Amino acid sequence: MRGLQAICVTGGAGFIGSNFIRHLFLQPDFNGIVVNVDRLTYSGNIMNISDISKEYSQKRYFFAQADIRDEEEISRIFDRYAVDTIVHFAAESHVDRSIVGPKAFIETNVNGTFVLLETARRCWKDRTDVLFHHISTDEVYGTLGAVGLFSESSPYNPQSPYAASKAGSDHLARAYCHTFGLPVTISNASNNYGPYQYPEKLFPLMITNMMEGKPLPIYGDGKNIRDWLYVEDHCAALWEILRKGKTGESYNVGGGSEMENIQLVTLLCETVAEVRGVPAELYTRLISFVRDRPGHDRRYGLDCSKIRSEIGWAPSTELHAGIRKTVDWYLRNPDWVEHVRDNKFSDWIDLNYNRASSRESDATFEQGRARE
Ligand code: NAD
Ligand code: DAU
Repeated sequence: MRGLQAICVTGGAGFIGSNFIRHLFLQPDFNGIVVNVDRLTYSGNIMNISDISKEYSQKRYFFAQADIRDEEEISRIFDRYAVDTIVHFAAESHVDRSIVGPKAFIETNVNGTFVLLETARRCWKDRTDVLFHHISTDEVYGTLGAVGLFSESSPYNPQSPYAASKAGSDHLARAYCHTFGLPVTISNASNNYGPYQYPEKLFPLMITNMMEGKPLPIYGDGKNIRDWLYVEDHCAALWEILRKGKTGESYNVGGGSEMENIQLVTLLCETVAEVRGVPAELYTRLISFVRDRPGHDRRYGLDCSKIRSEIGWAPSTELHAGIRKTVDWYLRNPDWVEHVRDNKFSDWIDLNYNRASSRESDATFEQGRARE
């Protein structure tokens, strides 16, 4: 029987991690504590979790600003809070950044996961009431053609440095389970969207650019397909896996909502226009096709029959409804948007090849490499 009494959430100040902590405190059958371990990189934001902090801090919620690669600090956290569960979100998470500067991805996603696994193995020894849940992505499977879906037994074929670093961490987690008997579960989710997502990813970038009347950059021909998962549905799946997931197993978590990027961005324009009571044309005319992302995966799609049949989870948010909730949230939280689109964000715009012309972009690529 799993304890689930002292849950260490890594990356809990990021997008999905903060939504997950909020989800946990809404569960009537969760009565334990949460320790949020986050280094607060550019995408980590303490504001994302300030409501939980206000209500539960030093009672059931504890925050440690720490790097998951810091072995001593992670061991101290395990001892101090008697951690019995890890839900490991902390990662470098943006594909474009992994093209400009892959090093941080290997350091955090591979080495950081290794440190957590080692600490868990040492601290937990042969305990069976513990669980290491590793959060991963559908990108580890590579890219699909027009038809077919990835199942949990599809071979790994990562195509970007980000996906490769996540694949590496998945393999490590699985190996620790197989070799050392560490109780591990893994989930591979599709593209999340919803509140508190850092505006470098498609959804918040497009919405916040619309708010500022800036161009909406579409990579390549705009026909790449992603499967969109509302973040609360992802969080619900994770809580179910923690309670019912079989040790040693992986679970695909998809939204069942595939769409081409250009269609999605058009829909976002229409939704923002509807909320603001203005013609959609005001936003669709901002759409601009830009140079494609190098190695851009064409399509992701997940077969989620395993989690449905073994755990009883299915997404409950239909894409149009999820888009509406997401647009509403960003438009109602201009302070949050202003806060995150600060200097750190400008630094990224400088580096981002896609917003530059192709000659400039080659230069910024080199700049990125030189900075590593
Ligand atoms: P995010 O970038 O919003 O958050 C990452 C968090 O990790 C931030 O709070 C950051 O400060 C923290 N962090 C980074 N490096 C750290 C380090 N060395 N030590 C401690 N903390 C560190 O990312 P997200 O979108 O919330 O993704 C969370 C996880 O979910 C990642 O593992 C990602 O690979 C996975 N995932 C994301 C999606 C998606 O669509 N966003 C889909 C599938 C899987
Ligand atoms: O599939 C799960 C993955 O989804 C997660 O593991 C990653 O952490 C997460 O970042 C996301 O990766 P993507 O590369 O799919 O997400 P992103 O939001 O960067 O891009 C979504 C699609 O939109 C992709 O085809 C690239 C395209 N795109 C993106 C941006 C930021 C554009 O056309 N223009 C843009 O400005």
